[in-house]
Amino acid sequence: MLPLTAVVAAAAAAATSPDLAKYALTDTGSTGGGNTFPGVSRPLGMVKLGPDLYVGSDSYSGYQPTGNFTGFTMLHESGTGGAPKYGVVSQMPVVGKVENPLSDAINDTRAAPDHTEVGYYKARLGSGTVLELAASNKAGMYTYTFPKPNESAGFHVLVDVSHVLSSYRGQGLEQHYLGGNITVHEQGADGYYYTGFGTYDNGWNRAAPWTVYFCGRFDAPATYKTFLGVDKASDKLAEFATEPSYESSSARLGALFSFRQTTVVSRVGVSFISAEKACSNVDGEIPEGTSLRTVRRQTRDAWNSDVFSRVTTTSTNTTELNQLYSALYFMHLLPTNKTGENPLWDSTEPYYDDIFTFWDTVRRALSRGRGRSSEPVLTPTYHEELLRSMVDVWRHQGWVSDARSSFANGAVQGGSNADNVFADAFVKGVGGKLNWHDAFASMVKNAEAVPVNNDDARDPTGSTKEGRSALPDWLAHGFITPKFSRSVSRAVEYSVNDFCLATVAAGLGRLADFAKYFGRSRNWRNHWNPNMTALGFSGFLGPRDVGGFLEQDPLSCGGCYWRDHYYQALPWEYSFNAHHDIAHLVELCGGEERFVERLEMTFEPGVFAGNAPFGHTLFNPGNEPSFATPYLYNYVNRQHLAVKRSRAVAKSYYAPRPDGLPGNSDAGAMESWLLWNMLGLYPLTGQPVFLIGSPWFSDLTIDLGACMKLRVTTTGGAEDAFYVQSLRVNGAPWNKGWLTWQDIFARGGTLEFELGSEPANWTTGPPPPSLASLTSDEARNMLHDIAGLKEHRRACTAPPKTCPT
Ligand SMILES: *[C@@H]1O[C@H](CO)[C@@H](O)[C@H](O)[C@H]1NC(C)=O
Ligand SMILES: *[C@@H]1O[C@H](CO)[C@@H](O)[C@H](O)[C@H]1NC(C)=O
Ligand SMILES: *[C@@H]1O[C@H](CO)[C@@H](O)[C@H](O)[C@H]1NC(C)=O
Ligand SMILES: *[C@@H]1O[C@H](CO)[C@@H](O)[C@H](O)[C@H]1NC(C)=O
Ligand SMILES: *[C@@H]1O[C@H](CO)[C@@H](O)[C@H](O)[C@H]1NC(C)=O
Ligand SMILES: *[C@@H]1O[C@H](CO)[C@@H](O)[C@H](O)[C@H]1NC(C)=O
Ligand SMILES: *[C@@H]1O[C@H](CO)[C@@H](O)[C@H](O)[C@H]1NC(C)=O
Ligand SMILES: *[C@@H]1O[C@H](CO)[C@@H](O)[C@H](O)[C@H]1NC(C)=O
Repeated sequence: MLPLTAVVAAAAAAATSPDLAKYALTDTGSTGGGNTFPGVSRPLGMVKLGPDLYVGSDSYSGYQPTGNFTGFTMLHESGTGGAPKYGVVSQMPVVGKVENPLSDAINDTRAAPDHTEVGYYKARLGSGTVLELAASNKAGMYTYTFPKPNESAGFHVLVDVSHVLSSYRGQGLEQHYLGGNITVHEQGADGYYYTGFGTYDNGWNRAAPWTVYFCGRFDAPATYKTFLGVDKASDKLAEFATEPSYESSSARLGALFSFRQTTVVSRVGVSFISAEKACSNVDGEIPEGTSLRTVRRQTRDAWNSDVFSRVTTTSTNTTELNQLYSALYFMHLLPTNKTGENPLWDSTEPYYDDIFTFWDTVRRALSRGRGRSSEPVLTPTYHEELLRSMVDVWRHQGWVSDARSSFANGAVQGGSNADNVFADAFVKGVGGKLNWHDAFASMVKNAEAVPVNNDDARDPTGSTKEGRSALPDWLAHGFITPKFSRSVSRAVEYSVNDFCLATVAAGLGRLADFAKYFGRSRNWRNHWNPNMTALGFSGFLGPRDVGGFLEQDPLSCGGCYWRDHYYQALPWEYSFNAHHDIAHLVELCGGEERFVERLEMTFEPGVFAGNAPFGHTLFNPGNEPSFATPYLYNYVNRQHLAVKRSRAVAKSYYAPRPDGLPGNSDAGAMESWLLWNMLGLYPLTGQPVFLIGSPWFSDLTIDLGACMKLRVTTTGGAEDAFYVQSLRVNGAPWNKGWLTWQDIFARGGTLEFELGSEPANWTTGPPPPSLASLTSDEARNMLHDIAGLKEHRRACTAPPKTCPT
């Protein structure tokens, strides 16, 4: 029993934590290609319980606004593309006689649009059944209300262990069911519960077989029949009888539970360790007798206290509050915290999975090289655990990959962007118990060791599982020839990765390593082809052989896919992506004026047929390689243009609606871009630098933990008045278009913006640092200066238990 003081404290905390969850719209980005997951989940929760719908094309998060329900399953991703993953551990309600539980005819239509909110999901099925869902971290809860008039027809819940989200793209990336076990146990006088496991493989990351265990309980009397098919794929039945258990590595199997009452509650736990652990997960997190209302409220409370309450504003504009809290919501669905659930090795370290992918998320708060830089700011405990988990994966499996899901590395689209995530945490003083020497060793592995080719048909030239497969060229030539696919886009990313190694090396006092990787971080320059010309501009990153450059149109990336020179973005876009070396880029572009003109051309409507949804601009708001581009004006003291362009992007392509994302959420990367735009800052991944934009709110406070806060205020702002007139940082006037982590985050601080409708020339101070454009000594000194590297290590001590008021 809880001591009374704990109850009082909990009640007090609940009373003071406002219900910000009401602003988070959990269907944002669920249609129109956003692919977000609208079902139920705790922050970083292992269980994501939601519907799986069949429409004849890929359902990446299980959900579709149309189509038929085929099951309601416990594991999902959010905002991914490529090929669906998960959609396993299923229950499906059926009304009427069931002849063949493996038949495709077991699906149901939607009688009304689904209802979704933080912690709660409701679906009305064509059969008249109403289904409500709630979830804890490792368990989920289903409440079925069957249609009373159909009582004589029979009410059933089908548990099909072979259920998995399929892929229809024909790329060989579809998941497979590989066998399982179902065992039905007696529970009390006339009830049953079931345990078992299913084994699956493949998906976008081409995972080796992995197994999930489950434990499902019902609160109502039931009868049951188990079933066994004849093989992995067909719906032909071998057995359908009251057998207590089936196990098979070659056939589909499951159980059908039948009920007499109209309301049935089921609690289901999952585990990657054992069926016993799945039972203890559900019994521990959702004990018998818990109401759905309680689980729903607990989930809401968790989001409020762990995530939403960290960012508060006095604004009353509902649209903007919806955007703010929905963005925070989708940034904290993935990765998933599977601490204590890693079947591969024993460890006391945390374990995180479903990193999908750093290529995307690195850029979300960071820069180029998809990674996430918002986490160190908002949820430092989680970030530290994630980093420790990454190092633990390296310790036991040899590599920290750009992506990982279902306990398997892959797929690597560009560089080894875990490096960016490490460097970003390093310069921001996040780390706590992380062993930085091990972290650096894992980065060196990425930078020096050629991974074994995993024979992925998408890229025959090298491994897509982990590491940097184009290293042989990178090490031999300092550039990447077309012997390796995605040669140009990977060259820019490898440069950024190497810069990240240099940064951590500098902080760890490894001077030789610093010099080496600092030198390599400039290799992107070897791809600069001054003869590539488009729209009146010359000089772009181009493909090259040992003998020289190849012909390349700056406005084409061919198929822009795995086997092309550029992955998912144009040469024009990638040419802006060496964010650690912008001063040099400005020179290559012909000086500041030409650089500004080139940026302006990027946003010019009608110049590029390819980006139809975005007004035919070269800028693509829906893809990470374009993320930082609007903010690059700050490097040439045109801050007002950064505000103008980024504000227009945010207002035109983002909305708090199901179709309100400009593209795939990419595990929250898109939402993170919006969040930073709203805050008026843009974090450069792997650098201690934030480029300054223009905040949306008159007042916004970020709780940095350890009693520290960042307070951002604006005066004079309006829908048409967003240009910065002046800025005070921690009370003192500021004339630079950038800030460091030390300035406002390390100890908290204040930003006071004065906004107006006309641009003002206020950034008269030095431009943001372009570290790779300096000499290596200058760069190292500046890094120590602006990142306060030594000070950081000291700052990582335990925060006080209570904060002074
Ligand atoms: C959905 O179910 C209805 C009713 O059984 C059926 O007519 C329809 O073809 C199904 N749609 C799909 C996409 O399977
Ligand atoms: C759903 O069931 C109907 C029959 O009720 C069937 O015609 C249809 O093909 C099924 N849909 C799927 C996706 O299996
Ligand atoms: C459920 O009952 C309704 C109304 O009696 C009937 O039209 C419908 O066919 C029944 N459905 C099933 C699956 O028995
Ligand atoms: C299924 O797994 C359980 C637990 O490991 C085991 O007791 C049972 O024998 C298995 N069923 C079959 C048919 O092998
Ligand atoms: C609320 O915010 C939205 C989105 O930024 C904006 O379009 C709208 O004008 C704002 N409403 C008011 C009353 O300021
Ligand atoms: C991750 O999960 C573990 C085990 O359940 C828990 O102790 C830890 O607090 C979780 N981390 C976060 C950031 O919630
Ligand atoms: C650019 O083109 C000129 C004229 O054809 C040629 O002389 C020069 O070598 C080319 N430069 C590069 C870097 O290929
Ligand atoms: C901004 O002010 C500085 C210093 O007064 C001046 O040198 C610069 O030309 C001005 N820039 C613009 C774009 O007006």
